[in-house]
Formats: sequence, C-alpha cells, structure tokens
Amino acid sequence: MKIYSRIAQFYDILDMPFEYGRYMPLRRALFKGLKGDLLDAGVGTGRNFPFYPEGSKVTGIDLSLAMLERAGWRKKKLGIAVDLYEMNVTKMDFADDSFDGIISTFLFCVLDAKSQQPALEELSRVCRPNGAIHILEYAISENPLRRFIMKIWAPWVRFAYGAEFDRDTEQYLEAAGLDLVEKKFLYKDIIKILSVRPKKNVDS
Ligand SMILES: C[S@@+](CC[C@H](N)C(=O)[O-])C[C@H]1O[C@@H](n2cnc3c(N)ncnc32)[C@H](O)[C@@H]1O
Repeated sequence: MKIYSRIAQFYDILDMPFEYGRYMPLRRALFKGLKGDLLDAGVGTGRNFPFYPEGSKVTGIDLSLAMLERAGWRKKKLGIAVDLYEMNVTKMDFADDSFDGIISTFLFCVLDAKSQQPALEELSRVCRPNGAIHILEYAISENPLRRFIMKIWAPWVRFAYGAEFDRDTEQYLEAAGLDLVEKKFLYKDIIKILSVRPKKNVDS
C-alpha cells in the first residue's frame, strides 16, 4: 500500500500513454454482457468509470485510501454513481451472493502469490450464482522480442506499481471454486481477459 500512497497522485499521468494507446478499448470490452449489481475490485483511480454499463449499480473497492481519493475526485468530475469503499479484496465485508457481475483490471498482477487464491475465493463468494467475473490482466509474451522488452520493463513495473507481468492467475481458479469460461487475449499476447464464473452456478 506504500507504493499506491506514493504514486496515487501521479498514477493517471504515469499510465496515460498506456491508457489512451492500449487500455481504453479493452476496458469497454470488459463490461460486455454485464449488468445489475456490479463490483469493480481494485477500482484504483476510477479508470473504468466511463465504461460502467448504463443502469447498473456499481460498487468500487480498493485497499489504498490515496487511490480511492483520486477515484472520488473522478466520480465527482464525471458525475458517476458509484459507491466507493476501502476494503481488501481478500477479505471483503459484502454478504455472499451480492453481485451479478465483478470486474477487476490489473489487480491480480499486483497481488502476490499467497493472495491470489484468497482474492479469487472472495470474488467467488460475493458473486451470485449465474453471475460473471471478468478479470483483465497482463501475461508475459511468448514472442522473443516482446518478451525481452517486457523483461527490461519488469523492474520499473515492480518498483512503480508493485506489479508483475506473469502472475498466472489461471492456476488458482480451480482451487478457488471458479470455472474458466473463456480466456482471450485482447492486446497482442500480453493482455488477456479471464471470464470466469463460480462453480455454484445453478446451470452447471
Ligand atoms: C494497477 S492498479 C489498477 C487500478 C485500476 N483497476 C485500473 O485499471 O487502473 C491496482 C489497484 O489495486 C489496488 N489493490 C492492491 N491490492 C489490493 C487488495 N488486496 N485489495 C483491494 N485493492 C487492492 C491498488 O491499491 C491499486 O489501486
């Protein structure tokens, strides 16, 4: 959290080239098919706000108060109806089956190995049966040149964001009680969406 207290006020500036060059269309794609009560886990500075589906009721959580303050500023600026809470994704205060849909963008690349499964278990717990969970994450490229460039970037990404490109979140899904519905790369072979659903799904 030290990292996010430090970078909260610069986060949007640091991320700007990626936000406009890469992330915006991916964020739009992430919300496809989601409606109703939604959770934005690891809401950060609120970069997903412009893409919240109309008519949905969105709740955003983040562990960093500094990031939430930036999100509060963006909420006001854009006039977005979103409830924001300081909360740890590995131990959320919400009741079981609270949300129809859950999204997280670049949260799991920040969570260390021991937090991955607890975080996924919590998403599974608060997701309603037949609900959908969409996770947008980085992966390390298989392309030699791209992989090499990512390896050069990795120390900066670790220092600035506490993030890693290769968390491989899929490996924890089964143990966390989640089924992988679809894995799709949305940007080259480095940004993927994991569409998952709780095993408690009543149709399965
Ligand atoms: C890389 S940022 C992504 C922010 C935002 N989702 C986006 O797409 O711009 C990761 C965010 O996850 C938050 N975070 C890290 N660990 C967390 C945890 N255990 N519970 C909730 N949020 C957490 C950080 O504070 C940060 O705001």
